[in-house]
Amino acid sequence: MGNSISGLEGVVAAETKLSDVDGAAGRLIIAGSEVESLAGAVSFEEVFARLVYANERDGARVRSELGEARVRAWHLLPGLREVLELRDGMDALRASIARTTDDNAESIAGAVATFAAAWSRVRQGKEPVVPDASMGHAEDYLRMLRGDTPSDPLWRALDAYLVTVVDHGMNASTFVARVIASTGSDLVSSVTGAIGALKGPLHGGAPGPVLDMLDAVAKPERAEAFLRGELAAGRRIMGMGHRVYRVRDPRAAVLEREVQKLEKAGVGTETLALARATERVAERILSERHPTRPLRANVEFYTAVLLDAVGVPRAAFAPTFAVSRVAGWCAHVAEQKATGRLIRPGSRYIGPRPETVEIVRGLR
Ligand code: COA
Repeated sequence: MGNSISGLEGVVAAETKLSDVDGAAGRLIIAGSEVESLAGAVSFEEVFARLVYANERDGARVRSELGEARVRAWHLLPGLREVLELRDGMDALRASIARTTDDNAESIAGAVATFAAAWSRVRQGKEPVVPDASMGHAEDYLRMLRGDTPSDPLWRALDAYLVTVVDHGMNASTFVARVIASTGSDLVSSVTGAIGALKGPLHGGAPGPVLDMLDAVAKPERAEAFLRGELAAGRRIMGMGHRVYRVRDPRAAVLEREVQKLEKAGVGTETLALARATERVAERILSERHPTRPLRANVEFYTAVLLDAVGVPRAAFAPTFAVSRVAGWCAHVAEQKATGRLIRPGSRYIGPRPETVEIVRGLR
């Protein structure tokens, strides 16, 4: 078990109206609603309006502002060619967002979508696709990624994903964004720092490896041997376990439901059955090893299945997480700035101390 001081478990670092994570009950409230009732029912733009503008702007206005912002970001691409050729999508996103100057939520959110999609296209040796300002954010992002107009079920599933992961209490990247904001720095700096935090495999970098794992398992009957091998080699099972949830992550269930809807709409997702079987085995093996610490599926497990099913390339999974979470970061930055307080925790010194103390009195 990790050291609770170094992990800050249970430390409350802010008051927020944005989201609430109940780890014992497995409940997530986003902007006053249960995640189960938002995803698949309310658009990403609507949730953006609730979080970032506390409903002072409506979803329709946010939709057109995000559209215009995607197009503005498109015009920055010629100056970002070198950055978009970086191998890792989060490196490309971090560097490209760092170079933007429009310090408002919709400009940055639009830029994240345009840059993430453009990076993914360049990585595949394809030309980036021009944004269409008249489209919804999810549909246009998926179109820019895939290079064709996605069917309704596909972009709706992506929209549900964007809503599901938009905010999640004091997660690591949100904390980073708030710490940076608390110094009086700008929104671009907060989001750039948050992207760096989201990149890590213990946070947003897990869904790509989840899909790698499902590929390696290949057949449900191979899951047990594969997972035992991973644990024996000292590796963690990606998509399992959570710092806060002691039950199954409610977002895993929401995304599983959305993938099921895709199946009903005729979008074949063989991975769903494999994922379910692998999850069951992983849960059993982990409970044998950690009988007192529940390690159940987290959001990344079914993120991998959903994003794969809608045609997001695996390498673009983490950047796609940022396309959503940037809304949460921007909302938290505004909330933090409103407090006017610098976040500056203490530390307990455990290094050597000098035997004699010499106090420099200052020159008179
Ligand atoms: N696979 C195998 N063992 C795991 C595990 C996993 N996915 N998650 C936790 N454990 C083990 C740890 O090794 C530790 O074992 P120990 O007590 O023998 O040292 C124990 O469970 C407790 O883990 P701890 O490191 O205290 O948990 P945490 O709260 O710091 O970790 C995560 C939370 C998410 C970082 C962790 O569960 C993890 O690494 N999961 C895989 C990555 C992932 O899916 N990330 C996305 C998160 S949304």
